[in-house]
Amino acid sequence: MKIFLDSADTSIIKKLYCTGLIDGVTTNPTLIRKSGRDPIDVYSELQELGVPDISMEVSGDVGEMYDEAQKLASQFGQVATIKLPMTVDGLLVCQQLSKQLIRTNVTLIFSIPQAILAAKAGATYVSPFVGRLDDQQIAGLEVVRGISSLYSSKGIRTQVLAASIRNVHRAVRSFYNGAQIVTMPPNVFEDMYNHMLTDAGLDIFQKDINAMSN
Ligand code: E4P
Repeated sequence: MKIFLDSADTSIIKKLYCTGLIDGVTTNPTLIRKSGRDPIDVYSELQELGVPDISMEVSGDVGEMYDEAQKLASQFGQVATIKLPMTVDGLLVCQQLSKQLIRTNVTLIFSIPQAILAAKAGATYVSPFVGRLDDQQIAGLEVVRGISSLYSSKGIRTQVLAASIRNVHRAVRSFYNGAQIVTMPPNVFEDMYNHMLTDAGLDIFQKDINAMSN
């Protein structure tokens, strides 16, 4: 049960990585743009922080994605996971990288047929987008469940990395539905700590501690 942070905001990631509970980080062009920074600077900072698995998205045609992936893999080594789109070109590059034992994350997965193709291309991870499916009135968690159970019944090693997670419920249910990894925005991770009964219990215990020391 791995937890990744879905963010390119290095100051928030730094704060949360210190919890010791984060296994990796996923980024995408939207998150990088929001950070206002050069992607290489973001990845370098995350690498220095010790993040062991950073999804770095590449774009362009087959040649461009392949070249960018090679640069990222040689600069960032073992921490680089190359994020590729669920397209004919993306899966061609995925096959080449997987032969070179470079970790890949096939992104923008919305269906089981797509996940079958990505697994055949040797993807390390597939990222079904739970929230964006839910937005279309399609049960994102059902897609996660379908991919996970198919992979496990066929002994496929590609791991399911649930993405586009908007709340704690979807994060937890993704694990229940077979995802090995869930990538979540920082606020969702922080919400996982919270329960009103924990707060109420702490208040009661603190009052008792105070009463004993009087
Ligand atoms: C991560 O890999 C995805 O790019 C991300 O979870 C998409 O999230 P969104 O649908 O909230 O943009």
